[in-house]
Amino acid sequence: MNRKYRTTVIAGNWKMNKTPSEVKGYAEELRSILGSRVKWCDIVICAPFVDLPMAVRSFRDLKVGVGAQNVSQFPSGAYTGEVSVGMLKDAGVKYVIIGHSERRQYFAETDESVNAKVLAALEAGLQPIVCVGESLDQRDRGLTLDFVSCQVKAALCGVAPEKARKVIFAYEPIWAIGTGRTATSEQAEEVCRHIRTIVRGLYGARTARATSVLYGGSMNDQNAFELLAQPDIDGGLIGGASLVPAKFAAIVNAANQE
Ligand code: 13P
Repeated sequence: MNRKYRTTVIAGNWKMNKTPSEVKGYAEELRSILGSRVKWCDIVICAPFVDLPMAVRSFRDLKVGVGAQNVSQFPSGAYTGEVSVGMLKDAGVKYVIIGHSERRQYFAETDESVNAKVLAALEAGLQPIVCVGESLDQRDRGLTLDFVSCQVKAALCGVAPEKARKVIFAYEPIWAIGTGRTATSEQAEEVCRHIRTIVRGLYGARTARATSVLYGGSMNDQNAFELLAQPDIDGGLIGGASLVPAKFAAIVNAANQE
């Protein structure tokens, strides 16, 4: 982390878990552990679409920002089942995860659709959390840095320089997601630093220095401190451990370090 130049972000990704009626209890539990005075990082909860209005209401006084897990690249119209950036904005949502590997893998998300969604989100004033990361096979073949470079460059295609620093990246190696097998802090740092280098090449040193790059993949209350101590890891995108308020709060507290 480097709090002087960029925001530390601890973001939970609930994936397809929790109903609207479960949101309030979660928020109350989180409040009872953290209080409402967290100053050292931005806290975000990315909830399923139907949970979002309840999440915005329940997390408001906790200063937890609410995010969606996907969004349409189209502004409105005949796109059955889709949700637009305008709808999210109107609902009080501030962030949106774009290009999670589960969406790339199961729902045919491509670098092109990721890019279109990033542009739509930025245009609407939503902060995108763009997920990138390699498969185990790609890592074993030594392709990690090249593959992640391509994903980062594709996501940023056509993004204006003044908007680029709003894009949060999350490095999520696919082999570490939901497997209990976390990347070592050296592995995670190497790729997060590389992402910053790519951003520097595209937008210059000031934008790169201000860009938050998160790590995701089996991050938990045991390994968060060491991961967050790395200079280029500016936070976490947390799946499983974000479902339990005490575990998520412990990760938030692990971000309270110099
Ligand atoms: P886990 O923390 O459950 O491994 O999930 C990580 C993730 O995919 C967050 O987006």
